[in-house]
Amino acid sequence: MTTSEKLSQYVLPTYGRFPIEPSHARGTELWDTDGKRYLDFCNGIAVCSLGHAHPRMLKAIKEQSEKLMHCSNLYQITGQADLAELITEQCVKIPGKMFFSNSGAEANDGMIKLARKYGHERPNEKGESRFEILTFNQSFHGRTIGAMSATGQKKIQQGFAPLLSGFTHLPYNDEHALENAIGDRTVAIMLEPIQGEGGINSATSNFLCTIEKLCEEHDLLLLIDEVQCGFGRTGHLMGWRAFHDSLKPDAISWAKGMGGGFPIGGFWVTDKQTNGKPLSSVLGPGSHGSTYGGNPLACAVSLAVLSEIIEQNLKENVVAREKQIRREIKSWNHPAVKELRGVGLLLGIGLNENEINTPKDVTASIHLCNILAGKGLLIPPAGPSVIRLLPPLNVSEAEVSEALELIRSGLDEAISA
Ligand SMILES: Cc1ncc(COP(=O)(O)O)c(C=O)c1O
Repeated sequence: MTTSEKLSQYVLPTYGRFPIEPSHARGTELWDTDGKRYLDFCNGIAVCSLGHAHPRMLKAIKEQSEKLMHCSNLYQITGQADLAELITEQCVKIPGKMFFSNSGAEANDGMIKLARKYGHERPNEKGESRFEILTFNQSFHGRTIGAMSATGQKKIQQGFAPLLSGFTHLPYNDEHALENAIGDRTVAIMLEPIQGEGGINSATSNFLCTIEKLCEEHDLLLLIDEVQCGFGRTGHLMGWRAFHDSLKPDAISWAKGMGGGFPIGGFWVTDKQTNGKPLSSVLGPGSHGSTYGGNPLACAVSLAVLSEIIEQNLKENVVAREKQIRREIKSWNHPAVKELRGVGLLLGIGLNENEINTPKDVTASIHLCNILAGKGLLIPPAGPSVIRLLPPLNVSEAEVSEALELIRSGLDEAISA
């Protein structure tokens, strides 16, 4: 049986998969089992921040796995303490505390639990506990029942009712809708500073200012999902700083680029005094947990990845490569390109669907991804009409030029086919 046949036979068909079988990869390059080379601008969907097989990651994996791969959170885990310190002191730069998970959905579930617990401890004027979380249309927060319920996309939720109650989905960047939706059971606002899966939609600075004001006025927690946009991808260590530098979230979730390809996620909670005690004390002993979360190996790898991003100042490369991409794509004035969305290296090319000869049964974005894979460039779609560029944060100027050449010829092919 081929791998594709075996996957069909033995793995649940939850993913639509491209017909490419990756074999090995180095940096931004990836080879399939037929020996064909690709530039990998998919990167596990914004995961491999340092590209593939980065020497610092490999060293951390080797050294830590030989020393101590796993031990329970019942003990003092050195790397976990070091990673939490680095994230708090050098990335968030606001006093607070971490909880470590294995994925983004789990991290978001943890933030949802934090909000629920806070809403119990800090009821409304009638003495009723508050539990409602306002989230946004087109958001994506993950696939667990909690994170999926927070997600503002019908197609993700379809068929799984009853969902976890207590989420209201509102139009993104709509300040009035948000203000009007706050009720006496509302406890938090949860959002991605840039919606990744939802098509690369950036929050406006005004929207974030309004959120900040409303959180203050109504005693709401501000929960930021940085699973896709965190740790350098926007050209800032924290994604929201690309739009509203002084924003002070109450909690932040991460995964993806945090481990550079090794599974780890987590959320941070502010030490700010709320209800007469630090918010970071709301989830106390026994209130939350994860067997694998924050294990020594995952923490050692994440520590290596984040240290490399900080020490090599990869944010600067992200900003330079974004400029290069914007300049080049603008100069094409290509009929198939409607707009360039996003920030840093979380970019989406919005396609003019009318200009593209899309075959039946696929979207314009999938069609483009197929054409580009044929030419040797891996990129993921974001919705039906956006293709995403998510190269590693250390991608070179030459690699970006090569990818842009391929994209231009792929767009030409898509309109002429
Ligand atoms: C913004 C955001 N939140 C949460 C998730 C879920 O993360 P995971 O797949 O690690 O559970 C994703 C995944 O794409 C995401 O983009």
